[in-house]
Formats: sequence, C-alpha cells, structure tokens
Amino acid sequence: MRIHQVNDYREMSQKAASIVSSQVILKKTSVLGLATGSTPEGMYHRLIEMYHEGIADFSQITTFNLDEYLGLSPQHPQSYHYYMNQHFFEHIDIPATNINIPPGKIENSENVCREYDKRIAASGGIDLQVLGIGVNGHIGFNEPDQYLNVGTHVVDLTEETIETNSRFFTSREEVPRQAITKGMGSIMQARRVLLLASGKSKAQAIRDTVNGKVTTRVPASFLQLHPQFILVLDKEAASLL
Ligand code: PGA
Repeated sequence: MRIHQVNDYREMSQKAASIVSSQVILKKTSVLGLATGSTPEGMYHRLIEMYHEGIADFSQITTFNLDEYLGLSPQHPQSYHYYMNQHFFEHIDIPATNINIPPGKIENSENVCREYDKRIAASGGIDLQVLGIGVNGHIGFNEPDQYLNVGTHVVDLTEETIETNSRFFTSREEVPRQAITKGMGSIMQARRVLLLASGKSKAQAIRDTVNGKVTTRVPASFLQLHPQFILVLDKEAASLL
C-alpha cells in the first residue's frame, strides 16, 4: 500500500491525474477502470487540461466504468453514462467503441453481468482502476454485507447510500434502489488500484480501509491485500490515520 497525503481536493485531483496520465503515457493502449461521484470530478478536469496541453493522448485507451444505476437511461442527467460524457469522454479523443459502462436498462441481468466480465477479460484486464469510497466503505456499489460478490452483479443499495446520493436528485424517492456494479474480484484483479478520498466524511472509512481488519463490512478493506494499492488522500480524509 502506498499513501500520498496532500493538502486539499485540488492537490488530490492533480496527483490523481498525474498517476492516470503517466499510466497512459507509458502504455498508450491502457485499459482504465473508471469511477464516478464527486471525488474524481477534479481529476477528470485536470486530465482534460492535460489532453489539451498535449501531455495525454487517450485515442487508444479502453475504459470500463465501475457501475450504473438500474433503471436510468444513458440520457438521464443522474446516470453515470451522462456523468462520464459530461465530465470526461466528450472532451477527449477516446473512440466511442472503446468506452464500456454497465447498462442501466437491462432485461436479463445475469447475461449482461457475465458479458461485462467477459469484455473486461477480453481487453486483457484493467491496468489501473480508479476508485472513490463511500462513507460506509463501499467501492463501486459493493456495499457492506455478510458476503461480497466476485463478478459484476446487481445490488440493492443500502439506505445509507440512498441517503448520501440523494443530494444529486430532486428527492430521495427518485434515487434508484438498485445498481449494477463490478464485483470485488473485478476490482482486485486490476494491476493497480488508485483510491481517492477527500473530506472529513471519508476519514473513518479511510481509517477502516487502511488500518482495520479485512472484512466484508468494509469492502474497501480488501484492498489491503492488493499488491499495488495507491491512495491519494487529502488532509481531512487522512485525519484519523
Ligand atoms: P463521492 O462518492 O465521490 O460522491 O463521495 C464515492 C462513492 O460513493 O464511491
């Protein structure tokens, strides 16, 4: 585990963007695992700047997003398809065919999930997986539970996650109750994992992730077992370490 502690959100975003861009500079055909949420917004912003500055070239990368709400179409402003287009993809030169995001509107979830895992495997596997972390220690939508899933699967969101994510919707009732997410195996199989956290609300989850026991009650704690686990934390997120 390698921890980079920085002062604030801006520095976290810059550090994360330099780790992602160096991955892409070293291997143009990198396969990136990408995350949504408030945390990586600044990182995407900086990566777009790096693209315009000629530092980063995304024309040959392939991406696999972590998750999507079930029931939302790609055009829904709170869908993660929409988020990714707005915050990253429409500003860079990645070919649309290289972008993979779990679909939110599905009929046969079993087939869709197996297909997503097969596509990740066929790409050669994830070189660098970017993650945020939930206040409850979730990664992607792998929520604290008695058991965790290995592959991509459909999950019921916890009340805590519904509450936390309701800030993006006009009312709590509008928050989808289910999501489709990469599983713990898909995340742990990435060659490198980069977890970002900013703010006091994440401090306890970061302490449990870094210093706690490995437990399904804190899904991110499994990352202690990953040989190439990098954390970029601002002061507040690191305040309980
Ligand atoms: P956030 O979400 O970046 O919006 O805090 C992180 C997460 O829930 O994984």
